[in-house]
Order: sequence, then C-alpha cells, then structure tokens
Amino acid sequence: MNDTCTPYANEVLAVIEQRSSTRAFAPDTPVTDAQREAVLHAASRAPSAGAMMMYSIIDIREQATFDRLAVLCDNQPMIAKAPWALVFVVDYCKWIDLFEHVGCFTPEFVARTGKQPRREPGLGEFAIAAQDAVIAAQNAVVAAEAVGLGSCYIGDIVECAEEVRALLDLPEHTLPLSMLILGAPAKDRPATPHPTVNLVMSERYRRSDAATLDAQVAEMDRMFRPHASAPGERVIDIYTRKHTSDFMVEMGRSMELWLKNWMGKELRA
Ligand SMILES: Cc1cc2nc3c(=O)[nH]c(=O)nc-3n(C[C@H](O)[C@H](O)[C@H](O)COP(=O)(O)O)c2cc1C
Repeated sequence: MNDTCTPYANEVLAVIEQRSSTRAFAPDTPVTDAQREAVLHAASRAPSAGAMMMYSIIDIREQATFDRLAVLCDNQPMIAKAPWALVFVVDYCKWIDLFEHVGCFTPEFVARTGKQPRREPGLGEFAIAAQDAVIAAQNAVVAAEAVGLGSCYIGDIVECAEEVRALLDLPEHTLPLSMLILGAPAKDRPATPHPTVNLVMSERYRRSDAATLDAQVAEMDRMFRPHASAPGERVIDIYTRKHTSDFMVEMGRSMELWLKNWMGKELRA
C-alpha cells in the first residue's frame, strides 16, 4: 500500500482511525470559540445533494436544554454533563419558505411555468435530505476529533417527538435525525474495535451462509465478549438489549410522527 494510504502516514486517516465515542468530558476544559468554529465550518463543507443544504444545525449550550434532552433521549445523564451539543435537523422547511418567498406557490407562477401548485416534501426529499444531515454530522465528528474534542452520537434524539418538537421549536418539514454531544475528553479513549466480517460485498449483495455467520459471530465475540462461555453472546446481547428494547419501540412510534411532520401532516399519533 502507498504510504499516504495508511493511517500512520496520513493525518486524515489517522484521525479517523483514532476516533472513538466520548461519553465523559473534562469538566474544567471549556470548548473554545476556535474549536466551535472549526467544527461548524467542517460540517458546512460536507457534500450536500444539489448543494441544497437540506439540514440545520441547532447549537445547544443552555444547561436547561441539556437536562431535558438527557431525559428525553432515553435517560442518558452524560448528555446533561456535556459542554456542547449539536442537533442535526433534516430540514425542508427552509426550502418551502424559500419557494414561498420567491413566489413559486402563486397562481401566476403556476400559470406561467405549468408546474404543479404547492406540494409537500415526501420520502424522496427525505432520502436525500437525511443524507445531507448525517454527512454534515460526520464531518463535524471528524473535525472535532482533529481539534481535540471528543464526540458521541445520540440516536435517541428521534424519540419523544412531541416533547422534542416543542423543546427545540421544530416546525413542519423538519426532523431531528442526529445529535452529537461534544467536549474535551475526560480521559484517553482507545479506539473501539469495529467488526469487518461480511461488511464489503463484491459486485452484488450476498446473503450470509452458515460459515460466514459463524465467522461473524466469532469476530464479534472476540471483540466484545472475550470471556463468552458459549458462541453468540454478543448477538444475543444485541437482541435482548437493543432489538427487543422499549427504547426501540418508542423510536419507531416517534419516527412515524416525525415522518408525518416531515410531510406536513399533523404531528399526532
Ligand atoms: C446513529 C448512532 C446513534 C448512537 N446513539 C448512541 C447513544 O444514544 N448513546 C451512546 O452512548 N452512544 C451512541 N452511539 C455511539 C455508538 O455506540 C458507538 O459509535 C459504537 O459503540 C462504536 O464505538 P466508537 O464510536 O467508539 O467507535 C451512537 C452511534 C451512532 C452512529
């Protein structure tokens, strides 16, 4: 491999290689303005479908908001102890406002262009806008690491749609898909191992055969359950703690409401 392609010789790859989620922050080390600016600028440099920037970043610094989010995001107290949080909102509201602002919804515009009258965003817009938001979030993660900040995604931000919508004043055609907590790490964080068996498939999707599944189970047990008494402990752990959890049920309920909100329907169960 060319030297510039290894994490040892390439600064960008080294940052990606060394990053791991940070859940404990140094209480006496504030996030500097320069760090905030670098992270937010890097987010804005992320690829964006048609350069439409179909997301907004809510910059959270008020303790009362952290405290409430800690509860709403499946009771994760570390959120209340983070010095900084960013919510990446998938956002088509800003385009609806722009369309309206320049007159795209007027009868004159419709008559002149032959285009359909106002339509609400659908799942097509969501597919690309969601990618915009998450790619920007990941740019922020890498930039944070590069400037000495740790970060952790909080997937539970999509729960409790009614309360989060009110807390963050989110209008219709928006959906808070990703949240990051950020700050100076309290301690060294060795990179978490990531499984790679059955990750990359050549040319076509290939459903796992028994030998591949065995290899996958073995790799995960080796990484996450080195003292497992029987094969498959990691898979069983994911099944019991995640796949069949109450929080996943809440996430599903809440996401249905968020998708309604996205499409301009009333956010009601
Ligand atoms: C979409 C997403 C949601 C996540 N949500 C949470 C969360 O709510 N709480 C948490 O402690 N970690 C959360 N994480 C962090 C993962 O647990 C972490 O990325 C994973 O264990 C791999 O570890 P690493 O990031 O240190 O490599 C989330 C990560 C992603 C990508």
